[in-house]
Amino acid sequence: SDDELHRRITAARETLGRRVVVLGHFYQRDEIVQHADFLGDSFQLANAAQTVPDAETIVFCGVHFMAETADVLAKEGQRVILPNLAAGCSMADMADIDSVEDAWAQLEALYGTEPDADGRVPVIPVTYMNSAADLKAFCGRHGGIVCTSSNAETVLEWAFERGQRVLFFPDQHLGRNTAKKMGVPLEQMPMWNPRKPLGGSSGDELLDARVILWHGFCSVHKRFTTEQVARARAEHPGVRVIVHPECPMPVVDAADEAGSTDHIRKAVAGATEPTTFAIGTEINMVNRLAAEHPQHTIFCLDPVVCPCSTMYRIHPGYLAWVLEELVAGRTVNQVSVPDDVAADARVALERMLAAKP
Ligand code: 13P
Ligand code: SF4
Repeated sequence: SDDELHRRITAARETLGRRVVVLGHFYQRDEIVQHADFLGDSFQLANAAQTVPDAETIVFCGVHFMAETADVLAKEGQRVILPNLAAGCSMADMADIDSVEDAWAQLEALYGTEPDADGRVPVIPVTYMNSAADLKAFCGRHGGIVCTSSNAETVLEWAFERGQRVLFFPDQHLGRNTAKKMGVPLEQMPMWNPRKPLGGSSGDELLDARVILWHGFCSVHKRFTTEQVARARAEHPGVRVIVHPECPMPVVDAADEAGSTDHIRKAVAGATEPTTFAIGTEINMVNRLAAEHPQHTIFCLDPVVCPCSTMYRIHPGYLAWVLEELVAGRTVNQVSVPDDVAADARVALERMLAAKP
């Protein structure tokens, strides 16, 4: 039962004390959130992984790419555990190292490798945090950087200072929404298409490109629509519509504001008058915000939206299991990035951590 799992987790944590720290993403279910020492968005959790005190073990309640990032940034000797190794991210799976290497080779053939008169290289690779460690390492090796939804604009500014254009993967929506906000015209954001030979119509598009987008998307956020925004406005005059920038561009344009999970949380917490909020992000987080702020009316833009099914795979039963194994002196479900990959990924992640939201 839930009570029994709560009791087991609490007991194991008491035994382990400060040897273990539990980090949790805002999308985690309440039964996990109540055990987290630190709750945050992707940027904050990456930062926390680097700054947690002397815990031997970081138990990461989130998805696989977040645990990998924590392992890359953790101190020597610290280990990272993901309670359920099947907690992946379908968007992160939409870019793999072979496809990105292939795109890179084609882009080098098109643009060459020489910097322009201002010293800007032809292309800077930027990977969204929601990607495997080997893609972060790719960015580290090729003068690139990682971004999260909270610092994407700062990161793109960083990239445009150093490069004539950006290859942005895996999330087309975050890339498009951020570049558009920065004034890049849509026609200068072509989608990378490995099947269209360069020099054809896609080659012409690429010559003018400022941001080359990858085809990835989030299956949770792509469900939000402009019709839902219109309905919320019709049914709740004065409603404040806030969405995550992984939503498609028309939805972000129709909303009042867009931002990371922490941005959404702060927007709600900062409202001084009772307000109606329609929120376009994962349902566990929206429901928690509604429970924490009874003075406001808070609902999810999509009335039938499912939770992020992979975040939801961190069931309290898994958390109890990994903690009890630690009590017994055994480590299960460790996420460990090979040293060579970690060294390059750290370069790109440290550039990102310097680009504050
Ligand atoms: P945040 O960085 O905004 O927490 O987003 C993480 C994520 O996976 C959103 O889908
Ligand atoms: Fe991945 Fe979307 Fe889930 Fe975020 S909400 S972890 S992008 S599938």
